[in-house]
Amino acid sequence: MKASGDRVSWDSPFPETIRFAQLDWDQVDLDLAQVDPIASRELMALGEGSIDARRREFAAGRAAARQALHGLGADRVPILIGGSREPIWPTGTIGTIAHSDGMALAAAGWRKQYSGVGLDIESLDRVFADLLAMITTESERVSLRRMLREAPDRTTVSVFAAKEALYKALFPQVGKLFGFDVAHVRPGPNPGSLTIELVDDLAADVSAGTSYVVKTTWQPPLVLASLAIEAT
Ligand SMILES: CC(C)(COP(=O)(O)OP(=O)(O)OC[C@H]1O[C@@H](n2cnc3c(N)ncnc32)[C@H](O)[C@@H]1OP(=O)(O)O)[C@@H](O)C(=O)NCCC(=O)NCCS
Repeated sequence: MKASGDRVSWDSPFPETIRFAQLDWDQVDLDLAQVDPIASRELMALGEGSIDARRREFAAGRAAARQALHGLGADRVPILIGGSREPIWPTGTIGTIAHSDGMALAAAGWRKQYSGVGLDIESLDRVFADLLAMITTESERVSLRRMLREAPDRTTVSVFAAKEALYKALFPQVGKLFGFDVAHVRPGPNPGSLTIELVDDLAADVSAGTSYVVKTTWQPPLVLASLAIEAT
């Protein structure tokens, strides 16, 4: 991981079988995207009503996703938008997109190897007084007490990012919105990791008691949370 000037860049947090890409929003030419046969269909799916900054963010996310898919050797097709805002990945692939602070990150893998991939990037600037209470229960805060004592804001933003990354990774299997209360977090097995355990059944093959290790990578003030769920 490195930062040059004020541009932060991230190394892939994934194994080689998942392709990872980063694009800064200012690397995206919206005029070109609007005439590109693939990107223009995606922008059309986003709708005319979005402001320029949102169109740029969206286009950067799609372009990063396409870089990741290209690395896999997947076909170049539009990544359209599902009914719950989820990206519709090309047949046989699965992926994830995240945006923050002028950058878009994406990752993609093959569905035969992975049932879900999740990325989320959050900034310490998003930490507010009640955030931790909104995304954790008392018993989660007890298991995290040492981390919270040592680095309260970093731990809060890491938990937030980890739960959102898990939401994105599980959405293809779950297919509906689920809240922060169904997934209980505790310190993970390695430094910078969190373990999240489901306390409710979310789908036939996503049951209570299943746990996931989410990696968090810190580049102050940003945290990147990532996980890949292997297909069974
Ligand atoms: C959807 C959500 C996770 C997005 O996170 P965010 O920090 O606001 O925004 P990010 O930039 O990181 O991610 C946005 C991208 O997530 C992806 N995304 C949106 N909805 C998604 C879904 N249902 N499933 C998978 N990915 C989704 C999209 O690619 C989106 O970018 P795009 O609209 O440009 O394509 C968040 O807004 C949300 O609704 N959270 C509530 C659900 C939740 O997190 N529950 C916790 C369970 S433990």
